[in-house]
Amino acid sequence: MEITVRRAEPYDSLPPGVAHKLPAALLEGKRRDGAILLAYVRGQPVGWLVHNLLWARVPFIELLHVEPALQRLGVAAAMLATLEDQLRAQGRALLFSSAQDDNPAALAWHLELGFEEAGVLDGVNPGVVGEVFFRKAL
Ligand SMILES: CC(C)(COP(=O)(O)OP(=O)(O)OC[C@H]1O[C@@H](n2cnc3c(N)ncnc32)[C@H](O)[C@@H]1OP(=O)(O)O)[C@@H](O)C(=O)NCCC(=O)NCCS
Repeated sequence: MEITVRRAEPYDSLPPGVAHKLPAALLEGKRRDGAILLAYVRGQPVGWLVHNLLWARVPFIELLHVEPALQRLGVAAAMLATLEDQLRAQGRALLFSSAQDDNPAALAWHLELGFEEAGVLDGVNPGVVGEVFFRKAL
């Protein structure tokens, strides 16, 4: 299965899930900044990754999603590889990410893809769900 990953351009229609997660104004800003990666399979957008710079200097994966029917086929790994290439080309040495501690798939994905745990933040999610942070050297 061929997976193509590229930055979302202004003319791209985005998968509905992205719009649910980000308000329109923020979404357009992200797209303009080249901070949204889209993964395509057979011409259809099936995954998206939104990134930013924490404190204007630390790369961070803000949102990551792959359509359920196409999970476990390397789509998220392909988006991560593209992001890592972009960051290395910019001279960046570290990438951070996070996942809720009640999301075993996301936790396993990070560890499988070479991230290591970097601490847990309490109080940012509803209920008693912690946010596990991850760090990866590039
Ligand atoms: C987490 C998520 C993005 C992973 O996307 P994906 O394209 O399915 O992941 P990949 O195919 O790149 O997975 C690579 C490896 O990560 C691990 N992994 C991924 N999903 C897993 C799961 N559900 N359970 C256990 N391990 C998993 C596996 O080791 C997998 O390799 P394998 O399939 O050969 O065993 C996807 O499950 C998703 O969109 N979930 C819903 C949204 C979400 O939770 N986003 C993350 C918030 S941080």
